[in-house]
Amino acid sequence: MTETAQPPFPAQKSGAQDDPPTIPLPPLPADSPPPGLSGLETRDVTAWFGARKVLERVSFTMRAGEITALIGPSGCGKSTYLRILNRMHEMVRGAALAGEVLLAGEDVYAPGRRPAEVRRRIGMVFQRPNPFPAMSLYDNVVSGLKLSGIRATREERDHLVESSLRQAGLWSEVSNRLGTPGGALSGGQQQRLCIARSLAVSPEILLMDEPCSALDPTSTRRIEETIAELRHRVTIVIVTHNMQQAQRVSQSCAFFLATHDTPGRIVESGPTERLFTDPADPRTADYVNGRFG
Ligand SMILES: Nc1ncnc2c1ncn2[C@@H]1O[C@H](COP(=O)(O)OP(=O)(O)O)[C@@H](O)[C@H]1O
Ligand SMILES: [Mg+2]
Repeated sequence: MTETAQPPFPAQKSGAQDDPPTIPLPPLPADSPPPGLSGLETRDVTAWFGARKVLERVSFTMRAGEITALIGPSGCGKSTYLRILNRMHEMVRGAALAGEVLLAGEDVYAPGRRPAEVRRRIGMVFQRPNPFPAMSLYDNVVSGLKLSGIRATREERDHLVESSLRQAGLWSEVSNRLGTPGGALSGGQQQRLCIARSLAVSPEILLMDEPCSALDPTSTRRIEETIAELRHRVTIVIVTHNMQQAQRVSQSCAFFLATHDTPGRIVESGPTERLFTDPADPRTADYVNGRFG
């Protein structure tokens, strides 16, 4: 596959690409994932916008029951990578990709697989909280059910609203005003509402793209606590530009980098602690120590 070749779409196995990633991936741990939790793996994921390649051969495993942080300077392809994981990339005009994304070992781009089903199992929380502003808190939380084709009785919905809001760390603040509109909440509360909305459809994976970048430090800490508690229920992949946050919340970390003439790749990945204290690649050391990006 060359830069000029027509990129395959939807994803399919492609033949020889260029050289392999700089740093070999760490071996998979012998311990098996916690019961009921799924992991996510990409194999040789390459992405284009039009003729421009923005990610190249990203092979990486996000382990079940862990929080994985994706770090790297702006423009290195972190958001694109996240959108590839839950089949949102293909909604972007001109976007193409190659490679495989395995959810619990099965390719989410397999022929016949429905994108809506993949997006239910792999939820996403965005940089700017995006609740339905005029819709009640209650209806915001259950808004994903219909889209996902999940039927529930009133009683089941009541239960789901409470459990989702509890898991998102918002229940105690809103339990007596579930009828108020989503737009009436503070930014940090809105983001937790969006987390609750994602959780209501029982995803196995939760993708978070800089979920705190629009929030103040107090709200940020609150979300970080929520994320830490969710780890036992859902596998989390979080993009963050905040190095302290990556160290506080994640167990594993991947450092992405693109240059003016090379598409985004993972320079180095591994346990967060090691990446920050003993990085193998000098570019990782420079980035985590704030010398660029
Ligand atoms: N919709 C799009 N159309 C064309 N190029 C895009 C689009 N979205 C992102 N890009 C380009 O792809 C590259 C990776 O972007 P992105 O994944 O947003 O990086 P990051 O999240 O790491 O900042 C950037 O060069 C960006 O300009
Ligand atoms: Mg981004």
